Amino acid sequence: MANGLMEKIVSLAKRRGFVYPSSEIYGGLTGFWDYGPLGVELKRNIKEQWWKNIVYEREDIVGVDAAIIMNPEVWKVSGHLEGFTDPLVECKVCHERFRADKNDKIKEHESEHKDKGEKISWTEPKTFNLLTEVFLGVTEPKQKAYLRGEITQGVFVDFQNIISSSRVKIPFGVAQIGKAFRNEITPGNFTFRSREFEQMELEYFIKPDKKEAEGVFKYWKEERRNWYVSLGIKEKNLRFRIHEPKERAHYAIFAEDLEYDAPFGWSELEGIHHRGDWDLSRHKITYKDPDSSEEYTPWVIEASGGVDRAALFFLLDAYSEDGDRTILKIHPKLAPYKAAVFPLLANKPELAELARSIYDDLRKRFYVAWDDRGNIGKRYYSQDEIGTPYCITVDFESLEKKDVTVRDRDTTKQERISIPKLSDFLHHAILS
Ligand code: GAP
Repeated sequence: MANGLMEKIVSLAKRRGFVYPSSEIYGGLTGFWDYGPLGVELKRNIKEQWWKNIVYEREDIVGVDAAIIMNPEVWKVSGHLEGFTDPLVECKVCHERFRADKNDKIKEHESEHKDKGEKISWTEPKTFNLLTEVFLGVTEPKQKAYLRGEITQGVFVDFQNIISSSRVKIPFGVAQIGKAFRNEITPGNFTFRSREFEQMELEYFIKPDKKEAEGVFKYWKEERRNWYVSLGIKEKNLRFRIHEPKERAHYAIFAEDLEYDAPFGWSELEGIHHRGDWDLSRHKITYKDPDSSEEYTPWVIEASGGVDRAALFFLLDAYSEDGDRTILKIHPKLAPYKAAVFPLLANKPELAELARSIYDDLRKRFYVAWDDRGNIGKRYYSQDEIGTPYCITVDFESLEKKDVTVRDRDTTKQERISIPKLSDFLHHAILS
């Protein structure tokens, strides 16, 4: 299956409306992608599940939505202007560029040249800042600012406002989902490394205490891994990897990546970072305990995931084939459509009418597809390929008995369900 899996996903994504190259009619733009009608649903479902799990199901976490462009001083103080860099080396034979910290990719490239009998050498590593510059205002000189390179800084600079406007007390967390931008030097592997992407991040504030930090770090590591598994990612495809000191971000005391076994090798899905007091102390922010009046600079444990990487890995993990049938066995909570409704025959008005009324009714509660083209077999195949968990067919028996055939995507088993019970059936099968 790994053979050509990436190509199959890229092709399916484009053909069925998950992901397209951005501004494709003008030749696209490297590192930018658009999400189509099904991709946008997949991403919304991922974000909704994340927010429900991180914010709604807990008492100790609140959300924010900070601006993408902030006062440029933020990036100076946070150390990003200086330290948010990637080292790059260039192959002197073919001029292909690689991140200098990606040893396995470099070795792979070296052996490709060696196999051809070529002697390879590299340029010295050069560092590049990843922040994307923007210019504000209409008159010269325009004000230089930056698109945020991580969504995180908004949470730190809002820290005092959050404390004074809500009832949170340490330990507590702040959750945020939003776009980030990086001037990546080697965008690639489809949406995996893009220049514009979305992050879903939790910043968890604790007392500055080594033992507590270790416990909270371990707790969030497991929580985050379990969340992906609860939404269908196979456990064998996930692992944690501790960052080498030289690859740690400038703000991190300690970091571990949750990695996914992608067709292009084990790759970062989410980063768990111990940021210590790096950010708050840089922004000169302290916390006064309302009960003890003790004042200190909190430490931060961060769980930072990528929505686009999650979407890509959920798709890769769910892809399966059975003969000529492609089935996207994606978790029903993430599936773009929760069900599809078909009249058995499109040219029988009484079937179409009943099917339409079922479709209209279900759409009040779920995102549901309608299909009356071709034969039933083709419609099943088409829905399987995009991961629709249930197909509902209205046939002649439905007119008499007021029930329908419901076919399960993964087992292909069919059962008759009474029409008034359909909506609750879907709710329990999919969302509970
Ligand atoms: N605030 C911490 C932070 O930004 P990071 O490890 O640099 O940490 C967090 O990024 C997550 O954001 C990554 O685990 C990944 O899922 C996602 N991400 C980072 N760079 C990305 C890129 N160029 N394209 C797509 N997703 C990216």
